[in-house]
Amino acid sequence: MKVNSWNEWGPLKHVIVGRADGTQVQAPEPAIFRDWPDEGYPRGTHGPLPDELVEAANAQLDHFTKVLTDRGIRVDRPVPLDFGKPVSTPEWTQDSMFGCMPGRDVLITLGNEILEATMSYRSRWFEYLCYRPLIESYFREDKEMRWEAAPKPRLTSASYREGFWDEFEALSFDDQVERVSRNDLVLTEAEPLFDAADIARFGKDLFVQLSLVTNRSGIRWLEQHLPNHRVHTVVFGNSHPLHIDATWVPLRPGLVLHCGERTADEALVQYFKVNDWEVVEAAPARHEVAPPLSPCSRWLSMNTLSLDEKTICVEASETAQIDQFVDLGFEVIPIPFWDVAPFGGGLHCSTVDIQRESQFEDYFPKRYGRF
Ligand code: ARG
Repeated sequence: MKVNSWNEWGPLKHVIVGRADGTQVQAPEPAIFRDWPDEGYPRGTHGPLPDELVEAANAQLDHFTKVLTDRGIRVDRPVPLDFGKPVSTPEWTQDSMFGCMPGRDVLITLGNEILEATMSYRSRWFEYLCYRPLIESYFREDKEMRWEAAPKPRLTSASYREGFWDEFEALSFDDQVERVSRNDLVLTEAEPLFDAADIARFGKDLFVQLSLVTNRSGIRWLEQHLPNHRVHTVVFGNSHPLHIDATWVPLRPGLVLHCGERTADEALVQYFKVNDWEVVEAAPARHEVAPPLSPCSRWLSMNTLSLDEKTICVEASETAQIDQFVDLGFEVIPIPFWDVAPFGGGLHCSTVDIQRESQFEDYFPKRYGRF
């Protein structure tokens, strides 16, 4: 057993796959806006996702697990908590937690290090506990593993802009994107905050998205913590930026998939081009919107898991995306996963790679602008 992963495409040997058990529509909290009256959860209410949905999602997660283990990949699963229970720190109480389907949000492997993110939702403050039995066993088995956790955030009212959601949700799409471009969003800079899924790993270069869950201070903390990496702050033309893995997806050295609808900064695109990377716009997503109760967008079509540079797991109904990957020379493994979306994401979100054959490499020898 060895913790080692530097990028998103090295041959995958060991991975965590999440579970749907007990996932909640979170109780109201300053960082989150939820209003799903048609699904029985109007603004202000909270409670468990229906049992039928949990069963359907777990069946797909178990099938995905089997596909991976049949290929000789070791798969571990987190241990759910009783997410419906209230939690508190000395400074606040939150009426419920969330779940443990998208481990990608909580943990990131960088070389031999597993880093626990701060998170920025009170409902996700304790989620790391679901992964601790696994992390403890890795720490015992691999004497070289580094186990790190970012500073636990306080998440008091000082970390959030008061009245943000009423103001923001009343804006037009263009005005929302404009506020995103200025990073005038729900998080203040009171303390470092980031979700691990806002980081895309390209060897030495890490691209970290400023988002509804990641602030500048969080990225500054990452820069200081990872002195051997180049840590780049990126923003896309996205009205609700939340995790980079349906926006800017590394596929193999020299190839990145971009969600065209979410415009990229010209300097970012040029940085890739001068370093001989091709930026390819993702094929149209199959669905108009994500399924009921999902906090995600239809661009889960791009939320893929690479098994190596030539082999990629893609959601089975995303036929245009599958065809595009085949044209780009990939072997595609279609995985039915749409029922998992209400639990927090797609194939990339639901996984955390623990071991990929990979080394610390510099794929961007040339500088461009601020990059
Ligand atoms: N927020 C992204 C979107 O809707 C989905 C990515 C979710 N990623 C994750 N790691 N949970 O486009």
